[in-house]
Amino acid sequence: SAAEIFGSKTAMSGYTYDDLICLPGHINFGVHDVALGTKFSKKITLKTPIVSSPMDTVTESNMAIAMALEGGIGVIHTNLPVETQAAEVARVKKFKAGFILEPRCVPPTMTVEELDKLKGTLGFTGFPVTENGQMGAKLLGLVTKRDTDFIQDRKTRLSQIMTPAANLVTKLEGCDLLEANETLQKSKKGKLPIVTKGGLLVALVARTDIKKNVDFPNATKHPVNKELLVAAAIGTRPADRDRVKALVAAGVDAVVIDSSQGDSVFQHEMVKWIKGTFPDLQVVAGNVVTKRQAQHLIECGADALRVGMGIGSICTTQEVCACGRAQASAVYNVAKLARLHGVPILADGGISSPGHIVKALSLGAGAAMCGSLLAGTAETPGEYFYSDDGKRLKRYRGMGSIDAMKKGSDDRYFGTAAVIKVAQGVSGTVQDKGSIHKYIPYLTQGIKHGMQDIGAASVDKLQSMLQEGQLRFELRSAAAQREGGVHGLHSFERKLFD
Ligand code: XMP
Repeated sequence: SAAEIFGSKTAMSGYTYDDLICLPGHINFGVHDVALGTKFSKKITLKTPIVSSPMDTVTESNMAIAMALEGGIGVIHTNLPVETQAAEVARVKKFKAGFILEPRCVPPTMTVEELDKLKGTLGFTGFPVTENGQMGAKLLGLVTKRDTDFIQDRKTRLSQIMTPAANLVTKLEGCDLLEANETLQKSKKGKLPIVTKGGLLVALVARTDIKKNVDFPNATKHPVNKELLVAAAIGTRPADRDRVKALVAAGVDAVVIDSSQGDSVFQHEMVKWIKGTFPDLQVVAGNVVTKRQAQHLIECGADALRVGMGIGSICTTQEVCACGRAQASAVYNVAKLARLHGVPILADGGISSPGHIVKALSLGAGAAMCGSLLAGTAETPGEYFYSDDGKRLKRYRGMGSIDAMKKGSDDRYFGTAAVIKVAQGVSGTVQDKGSIHKYIPYLTQGIKHGMQDIGAASVDKLQSMLQEGQLRFELRSAAAQREGGVHGLHSFERKLFD
């Protein structure tokens, strides 16, 4: 049992997810019967136990919207000016499935040639033409592939070839998605601009999105107003109190105090101040890896704890600072203490497969927080680019890398006042993983298969098996770990899902 592996007084080693393997249990249910409902914090529940990390190459509003639609939650990073971070939160709260609230617009003076270039970088083909090329301005027309395909002179201006506003089917602002979809279907058009009475463009509905809008049955929503839930990261500086106020005004549901070592007087004061000022706001404190650190933050009023130190894919904290803990040991030990106080924990970092998430849940985590696993998806900030050998890549960097710290995340490492910035992370690249809307369903299906093998049809059941010692683990030797991976092939291709 986990208690035997981690609790032995003579076991002086720390274990990682890869050191352990779960032994199979008895299956008496189908894989579709597995429920992944879990807790993110005392008051926030998720149907998908996955959280996107507050990192500037992982979570801004697009990612937070996609994560919430898929039943998880996103934490918007804090390397942004206060107003920008609050605006990102507001974008998530205002999101209405199916309405593109900030469609890319073009001015009537743009040439077909310039539009071709824009299409190349954006990957879609229909654009509203507005007076000044911006959203919120007067709608003059719409330009689609059909308008531009056969134009010989690519220097022609869009005003000469667009479908003018007078000939467009539009809807007035305030219409709901059902009405918009009906109009699109009746008119057989591809795009439906939504305008004010005065003809200003406020949104766009696209036929290609209709299928996607059908439903997101797992979405993480407020039970009454149906808005998507979102979290945002903050620091521990006195100025971060103003940040919290702005985030609350924007509608944030939880704040995550972003610190590599959470057991500091600065964080204790911040947790107490937030719980005293905004009692309904959920506060995720951390990071911690020991029971003692966890106990202090729980006493201050934390609603959840983030667990992990120096084990992320981009981390160099353990190397530079000699401090941290192997992740499976950290998760098990902190979860054991936190459970006694009803405080959920997030297993943060070091997750590179659905199997790692199964192990994190098996050791007591409410959800897994992921950076590298989700980096490189379409919804992360940043543009794709190609490597010399033709691979489609995006950047992914640690918040303790020098570049990121220069943008403000040095507070995470108590480095704000330091003359020399000491990196505790690196910058790198990851390969394109497609959209979150395909990737999360793959991860959750993988997790369900794992839980079925173990014989647990829900996260609650898995964790009661953990406490009762029915969940069995074995430690893996180096040879066992090799055997558990692909081996003995000259070469192979790995396709993750279909
Ligand atoms: P993964 O393994 O998912 O880890 O890529 C993401 C988590 O790593 C933490 N993080 C860092 N830790 N130096 C560190 O020591 C860094 O530069 C750094 N940046 C992020 C963070 O907890 C994140 O969720």
